[in-house]
Amino acid sequence: MSDSNSDSSSELSFFTKHEFAIRRLHSLTGIVPLGLYMCVHLTTNASLLGSVEIFQRAVFLIHSPGPLLPLIEWGGIFLPLIFHAVLGIWIAKTGKTNSSQYRFTSNRRYSWQRWTGFIGLVYLFLHVMHLHGGVHAEGWMNAIDKIGFGQFSPYNAGSSLVAAMNLGYGVIWPVIYLVGVLALVYHFINGIWTAGITWGLWISPQAQARATKVCVALGVVLTVVSLAAWAGAVFPGEDDVAEMRAIEDRMYEAGVVAGTVPENEHKRDSRGRAAVDCETEDAEGGEQASLDDTKPAS
Ligand code: HEM
Ligand code: HEM
Repeated sequence: MSDSNSDSSSELSFFTKHEFAIRRLHSLTGIVPLGLYMCVHLTTNASLLGSVEIFQRAVFLIHSPGPLLPLIEWGGIFLPLIFHAVLGIWIAKTGKTNSSQYRFTSNRRYSWQRWTGFIGLVYLFLHVMHLHGGVHAEGWMNAIDKIGFGQFSPYNAGSSLVAAMNLGYGVIWPVIYLVGVLALVYHFINGIWTAGITWGLWISPQAQARATKVCVALGVVLTVVSLAAWAGAVFPGEDDVAEMRAIEDRMYEAGVVAGTVPENEHKRDSRGRAAVDCETEDAEGGEQASLDDTKPAS
């Protein structure tokens, strides 16, 4: 018992001693790289609503660093995300609120900041497993494919994204995405507001009222962008997937010939192509059978 008391008091004293640096690091990672990444990521995904080609071109560009990509993803996104999430949970758990600093803020907004952080954590775990898969080792990707994870194929970007959303009766994933994305948009926008206090940018009630207006406007824009990203992935049906895949395959083949896209079969959707090949074979078989039927009997 005394152990747990001394554990929590040493935890508190560690926090108290380093509170200034810890809060600023936590705040900074929430804005750069995480917030910035989320804005770019949602805008890129929203481009699928424009056309399959625009989205595929953007994904070719994102994947152009080749073997350096995992390094960029881990250093620039995953590690800052883990750091921010662990620290966020720790701040919430140790009960160190900074509500004393938020003299003019409602407590409700502050508890929503925490709740949306937790919802975001669950969503991001499911989202990254669902599409990216986490680690691109062949054995791992094959194993998680069987349970419907690791579904995104960068060289068939739009079609594999839409097909992944259609798994689970076409309802489960869209609902998870809608809740998760809106929670994170709230978390980020309200987070910009509270970060202004962490960094001493808006302290007076008048400055905070102005900051609220700017954050609401930003929030409306980002909500529209995130709904466009959601709609681009959810609205096309299973019927559209084959058409999207044909466009992506043409872009890949042309890119390889032109030398702008490095050849890499692992980044293509072999699941989808196997299904298309089967359909083509069936159709050719059927056609052959019906041609045979029309042959005059000898
Ligand atoms: C992955 C799960 C996440 C968890 C568990 C989490 C948790 C938290 C918590 C508990 C806070 C409030 C800290 C406090 O009491 O001052 C917070 C603040 C914040 N978070 Fe997150 N967060 C997560 C993801 C994100 C993401 C993806 C972004 C960016 C898109 C983000 C941006 C921010 C910002 C800007 C703040 C405000 C920092 C400040 O007040 O100085 N968070 N987070
Ligand atoms: C409707 C909304 C969204 C869609 C359609 C979407 C789509 C995607 C796709 C297609 C990938 C796979 C990229 C790849 O493996 O190359 C991905 C990965 C990822 N997404 Fe999202 N996403 C959405 C919302 C979000 C939000 C709100 C966040 C919060 C920051 C987020 C964070 C991530 C992360 C961390 C990865 C893994 C790293 C990466 O591959 O770049 N996503 N998303």
